[in-house]
Amino acid sequence: MTFRFLLLILLFCPFAYAWIEEVDDCKVCRPIYNSTCRGVGVPSLKTSCATAKETGVEYTFGLLHQIFPHVPVNSCGTVITCPLRTSSTIKIENKEFPAPTLYHWCEETGKNTGKWYARFVHENVEITSVACKSIVRK
Ligand SMILES: *[C@@H]1O[C@H](CO)[C@@H](O)[C@H](O)[C@H]1NC(C)=O
Repeated sequence: MTFRFLLLILLFCPFAYAWIEEVDDCKVCRPIYNSTCRGVGVPSLKTSCATAKETGVEYTFGLLHQIFPHVPVNSCGTVITCPLRTSSTIKIENKEFPAPTLYHWCEETGKNTGKWYARFVHENVEITSVACKSIVRK
């Protein structure tokens, strides 16, 4: 009970763990955050997205299962809270959708090894990328 409560605080309060630098507990799963993002406004507001670092993207093993039991226990996961003036988009079959998906997971073992999933419209969907895109689009 207390343990879960602490986990919730850690997950939903990025400031609480800001001192942890770029945790990456994934071994097989590759980072899901769009690595080509160069920062809000770079090169233009219209297409830009926050960098993984600005977004504070971290990958932790086994943690999400504690909070969302439907996430397989052997998963590496990331909780993404987008910085100000950005909002989350996910890519499904190479199409981008605005989606406040918040948490994403990838199994490190088993038949779905290396595939990333998000909960989208009450379903687990396979995703290929996540980015915090600039909201200002002119
Ligand atoms: C990453 O972001 C860039 C810039 O917004 C976009 O053009 C590209 O399609 C994205 N790539 C993926 C894999 O989402």
